[in-house]
Amino acid sequence: MHSAPRNIAIFGSTGSIGRNALEVVEAAQDRFRVAALSAHSRLDELVEQARRWQPDWIIATDPVAAARFAPPSDLAGQWLVGPEPLVEIAAHATIDTVVAAIVGSAGLPSTLAAIEAGKRIALANKETMVVAGELAVRRAAETGAEILPVDSEHSAIFQALRAGSVAEVKRILLTASGGPFRTWTTEQMEQATLDQALAHPNWSMGAKITIDSATMMNKALEVIEARWLFGIDAERIEVLVHPQSIVHSLVEYVDGNVLAQLGAPDMKIPIQYALTFPERAAGPTLPLDLCRIGSLTFEAPDYDRFPALRLGSEVARRGGTTGVVLNAANEIAVERFQRHEIRFTQIAQACRTILDAHDYEPQPTLETLMRLDSWAREETRKWTSV
Ligand SMILES: NC(=O)c1ccc[n+]([C@@H]2O[C@H](COP(=O)([O-])OP(=O)(O)OC[C@H]3O[C@@H](n4cnc5c(N)ncnc54)[C@H](OP(=O)(O)O)[C@@H]3O)[C@@H](O)[C@H]2O)c1
Repeated sequence: MHSAPRNIAIFGSTGSIGRNALEVVEAAQDRFRVAALSAHSRLDELVEQARRWQPDWIIATDPVAAARFAPPSDLAGQWLVGPEPLVEIAAHATIDTVVAAIVGSAGLPSTLAAIEAGKRIALANKETMVVAGELAVRRAAETGAEILPVDSEHSAIFQALRAGSVAEVKRILLTASGGPFRTWTTEQMEQATLDQALAHPNWSMGAKITIDSATMMNKALEVIEARWLFGIDAERIEVLVHPQSIVHSLVEYVDGNVLAQLGAPDMKIPIQYALTFPERAAGPTLPLDLCRIGSLTFEAPDYDRFPALRLGSEVARRGGTTGVVLNAANEIAVERFQRHEIRFTQIAQACRTILDAHDYEPQPTLETLMRLDSWAREETRKWTSV
């Protein structure tokens, strides 16, 4: 039994996570009502979604794209333009849950607004945790906001942690598919093309996170996310390569019990769990057929071929301003790789240089984080290898 449908705001509804979230809602319309949708550039798709879901608010976050677009007059909801309405709607009294599915640090202000307003946040935007994890978790504890992970690895850890306490955890094993270049040499990766980096073996995702998976920066960001989300020190978080992406992560307790969560590689599973928690409901995903999969394999990660992993452990350990700098440098380096300005292996090199060059502060304010975000972006735009 559950009560009235919960009002959901899906920010980044035209993205991979946003569309999956709408499929979850489609299959559970007695539980959820779509109250707000947002998109940045794909405004035709946003209008289609708005026609289907009749939200109260439809937010076109890019003012430039919105200025060139005439929204149809028959939309029932209010058409809002720019990033500012995200913050306002995230905190609106009628919103119960915010699905934070915007890519990059652009997702930070609305996620923080939802935290300040004490909402439930289904958090896909890992950048919030990387940039301002300490602050976000502290404020959530104060406001009563619930941050439910959507990243499949963090959803797995969150579920396995229900069997014990963080103090009883020996280590967290964060699984990684290894991406398309798992078996490539560094020399081969130096020549990797954009198309090759975008060809993920297991998951269909947005371009930025797909490239992050190829460099394994995605796993680095997830180590940092886990550090703040679960309040566990970096020394107890390890990466384990698991090419099949069926075991989504494991928690090893001090008594030797290891709890894993398994599931098909389908983001609808963790999205739905974040929305229905603490309940479980039948969902739109096909069951896991382990007999068909046959074998599950595991490998140690290679920190030399994937130097981004080292950056992740270091940032998770140091905290402070390191997360914002790594994240901003990576966002710009990935954009530059997409524009063919730098080579694939230079993404991690640029991040290393910018991280080393910044003025570290252990306890930054939000203003300091925002200033360093701009600084790191500018430095990475100028970066050239020596
Ligand atoms: N995809 C996955 O399976 C997956 C798994 C775990 C975690 N995540 C995380 O989930 C987040 C979204 O990933 P994704 O793969 O869904 O990305 P995506 O497919 O690229 O979608 C990103 C969404 O954000 C919107 N957006 C882009 N730039 C924006 C900006 N500056 N301001 C406001 N909105 C903006 C996009 O709008 P337009 O499309 O209209 O431009 C789109 O709706 C990322 O943080 C990612 O790390 C994703």
